[in-house]
Amino acid sequence: MTPKFHSLVIKDVREETEDCVSIAFEVPAELREAYQYVSGQYLTLRTDIDGEDIRRSYSLCSAPHEDEWRVAVKQVEGGKFSTFANASLKAGDRLDVMTPMGNFNFEPAASKKRSIVLFAAGSGVTPILSIAKTALTHGPKSDVTIFYGNKTIASIIFREEVEGLKNEYMDRLRLVHILSRENLGTPLFKGRIDLEKTNKLFKVYLESDTPDEVYICGPEQMILDVKESLIANGIDPKTVHFELFTTADSIEHKPIEKYEGPHIESNVSVILDGDRFDLHLESDGESLLDAATKAGADLPFACKGGVCCTCKAKIIEGKARMDVNYSLEPDEVAAGYILTCQAHPMSDKLVVSFDD
Ligand code: FES
Repeated sequence: MTPKFHSLVIKDVREETEDCVSIAFEVPAELREAYQYVSGQYLTLRTDIDGEDIRRSYSLCSAPHEDEWRVAVKQVEGGKFSTFANASLKAGDRLDVMTPMGNFNFEPAASKKRSIVLFAAGSGVTPILSIAKTALTHGPKSDVTIFYGNKTIASIIFREEVEGLKNEYMDRLRLVHILSRENLGTPLFKGRIDLEKTNKLFKVYLESDTPDEVYICGPEQMILDVKESLIANGIDPKTVHFELFTTADSIEHKPIEKYEGPHIESNVSVILDGDRFDLHLESDGESLLDAATKAGADLPFACKGGVCCTCKAKIIEGKARMDVNYSLEPDEVAAGYILTCQAHPMSDKLVVSFDD
């Protein structure tokens, strides 16, 4: 289904920490189906600030069984959307909210005994909290371990909620806080979740209780370190899932390697909701998304940085390349999916569909 924006009423805005609010939306009955989600997915919010179309994606921290659509927005220094959200949004306001998206998906398995291991750092906890709630509620035979890194106790987002889960599921949830700027009494819990720390945590918590599925959400370096450690410790890479957490307001648009390949001129067709847009593009020119948007197509997008995958479409005919890809899995790329915000044609004819 092509993602779509709808104007939703804000049900409540809760202060979670000094610099983070969570926002819940009312989803009317006629939109419930379109807004169904699985734990790990995100919402893209859109607003107009000083005439600029601002879009940001935030993972849902609620779980589907809670019948709630809630995201957390941490204030980022100089961040346009996060400043607006933290300072101005209140219950009753309206915001454009895109239908849920994202590949970082957790599906519970009620009949299986599984060990689910979750790593989160800072606001990366949002999808992890949703996954933990779903795993504990709908996987009665599953055990969950959360490694949660923060600077200080006061900066722990959803501290009460995760502690509440621990009390409710005492025999099935292990919660391990790691703080970089405060002491929790033992050196294992002090520092950042990096390669060395993950190796140590593995020895203590996971060596005798091999994880069946691992979900990681945090900054890029943390994801790389945790993955490296787990794989070196014998965990099957196919069971390790991750979501690059960017501070939403400050996606790091890394310098993109200059394209040095052949210059190809291409007739490109873009299919969206059954409509077709025809464009003329070059392999070393602007991205498919930018060109189609300029031509008047209302294509879905959020980050424009290759992170969120809102702009995902499928190649029906021809070839394309991407500048960067932080969100499509290798099997999706093999199946012909591209991030149109990063895509350029590599054949003289290219047909891309948002409907597949
Ligand atoms: S808009 Fe986010 S990956 Fe393209």
